Amino acid sequence: MTTAPAHIGLKSVIWTSTHLDLLDQRLLPGEVVYLELRTAESVWDAIKNLAVRGAPAIGIAAAYGVVLGSRETDGTPEQWLASVNHAAEYLATSRPTAVNLFWALDRMKARAASLLAEGIGLEQCKQSLLDDAIAIQSEDEETCRLIGEHALELFEDGMGVLTHCNAGGLATARYGTALAPFYLAQEKGMHLKVFADETRPVLQGARLTAFELHQAGVDVTLICDNMAGMVMSKGWINAVIVGTDRVAANGDVANKIGTYSVAVLAKAHGIPFYVACPLSTIDLNTPTGDLIPIEERHAEEITEGFGKRTAPEGVKVFNPAFDVTPNELVTAIITEKGIVKAPYNVNLPNLFQHE
Ligand code: MRU
Repeated sequence: MTTAPAHIGLKSVIWTSTHLDLLDQRLLPGEVVYLELRTAESVWDAIKNLAVRGAPAIGIAAAYGVVLGSRETDGTPEQWLASVNHAAEYLATSRPTAVNLFWALDRMKARAASLLAEGIGLEQCKQSLLDDAIAIQSEDEETCRLIGEHALELFEDGMGVLTHCNAGGLATARYGTALAPFYLAQEKGMHLKVFADETRPVLQGARLTAFELHQAGVDVTLICDNMAGMVMSKGWINAVIVGTDRVAANGDVANKIGTYSVAVLAKAHGIPFYVACPLSTIDLNTPTGDLIPIEERHAEEITEGFGKRTAPEGVKVFNPAFDVTPNELVTAIITEKGIVKAPYNVNLPNLFQHE
């Protein structure tokens, strides 16, 4: 475990030549601590228990988890491939909703299979698979910047923009998805006034979004989730932008619990509701949002979050980590390939035509 002073632009995932340094996001904003991970099991645990979270960052961490889980194999390339597949299948059991996890694991499995087919030696296979994990991370940075550039076309100087959860640099390789336009606006000297929902129960909005935007000098105002309607009614919000964990083929969007309520509020106030994500978050194999698996988490996140009991012992609790916003509430989806509008069942598949 290593600690570092807080500074602008913390990276959530860092590959060193020997292991993975993973920013423990559970401790933010109070402490900046990197976990030193050397096994697939420790990466699984970090994903499951939210040390790393946010769809793209989960995928990046899992790709390195496959490398860690297969690098000790010392047998034949075939045995190495079996260990890659085993590590990938194991890591796939960590969290169910963010499709980037399965996207990254499938990519690592496919890469390993093609390396084996090339007939190269074991050490070269291992190095090339690591190179692909590094590529997943660096491609995500470029992708997020492109998403930010496209999203910025939707905003004008002086606008108020509300976001929910954390879809920022901490949730990705850099910039974020929903937060990317805020960083790019700042680079261009454009002023956006961001409102960040605190995002019960784990407070990704308060602990992470408010932290990273405030550290970067972006104008951010933190509000409780139940204040979103009030700030909209005051006319302070011109647009909503959020990230997503999985977009179904029809444009239904799974994101952090509470997103659906924000979308309904935006509709009621005539405010556009935007979703920002890379293509790796769009799941054409899931036809509609009701088929997206929604993770349910421990009751303690609600009854004694951050160590203080705030509900009676033994009370029944329902704690879904995500909800689904129906496509009719989604004004546009912003990807690295541009801005997509309804009909999503036609326009989302078009994005993949030249993939
Ligand atoms: O439970 P979390 O913190 O992993 O949930 C994260 C979100 O819901 C994000 O909005 C989503 O993953 C997009 S991150 C670019």
